Amino acid sequence: MITVITGAGGVGKTTVVANLAVYFALRGYNTLAFDGNVKLPNLNYHFGIEAPQYSIHSLAANPTLSIEGAVYQHRSSGAHILAGDPSLGHITNISPSFLRSVLRKVRNKYPVIFIDCSSGIPLDDLKIFEMASYQIVVLEIERAPIKSLPMFLESEVQTFEALGLRFNIDTFVVLNKVRNLMKTTGSVVEYIEDNFGIPVIGIIPYDGAIVESIQFGEPVLTYLPRSKAANAFKSIGELLEGVFEEHI
Ligand SMILES: Nc1ncnc2c1ncn2[C@@H]1O[C@H](COP(=O)(O)OP(=O)(O)OP(=O)(O)O)[C@@H](O)[C@H]1O
Ligand SMILES: [Mg+2]
Repeated sequence: MITVITGAGGVGKTTVVANLAVYFALRGYNTLAFDGNVKLPNLNYHFGIEAPQYSIHSLAANPTLSIEGAVYQHRSSGAHILAGDPSLGHITNISPSFLRSVLRKVRNKYPVIFIDCSSGIPLDDLKIFEMASYQIVVLEIERAPIKSLPMFLESEVQTFEALGLRFNIDTFVVLNKVRNLMKTTGSVVEYIEDNFGIPVIGIIPYDGAIVESIQFGEPVLTYLPRSKAANAFKSIGELLEGVFEEHI
């Protein structure tokens, strides 16, 4: 079950990957969080891994290394992490086919895999999309003036919807960094579901607990499990679990 997480820069993709991986691991699934953002990797930091000794980058540099040897395990949830190495992001040219070959080798072991994609249309990662079953598009609706929301949604959602259609994968939307559950949020959900036929599976509030948890190096779901953001991740996880159950 490979799920790619897409969205514009800085909307919260890596945060979503880290917390959904933790959710599924806590629910007992063998889960892998995979850093597909090989040019600017940072999934490692979300799990408090400062400088991964073994990483996707070291696997690419030395194909004789075992993939399992490069997988970290998050202590409080059991989630597995195949991290990128931030210090090698700028010098290594990792091919999309290499990422795909790594995923092929791990997909049998991990029934649930979340992939953190690079921002925008992840052209480098398209080969990963061929293997994915689902796409979660993270949107930050407060980036556009309210009057421009329809146009903003048209362009953002359509861009990723096209990817989903091209690769025949189911697309879901998550709204992130929502402040004060703005009055417009309900109509945005309706707009997305009615106009694009894409389900909005979660609304994550803007929550200082997330900022703090990233600074601490522990996903909010285990760092502050009773925070509003953690509760939002739990509901998204429950919903997705229902969707995935047909396939796991
Ligand atoms: N719900 C939230 N509430 C408050 N802050 C948040 C929330 N979600 C994410 N953030 C903040 O936004 C920043 C960006 O999040 P994140 O790194 O997950 O985004 P990204 O989409 O992966 O970014 P990039 O495109 O750079 O990979 C983080 O530093 C985090 O503190
Ligand atoms: Mg990121």
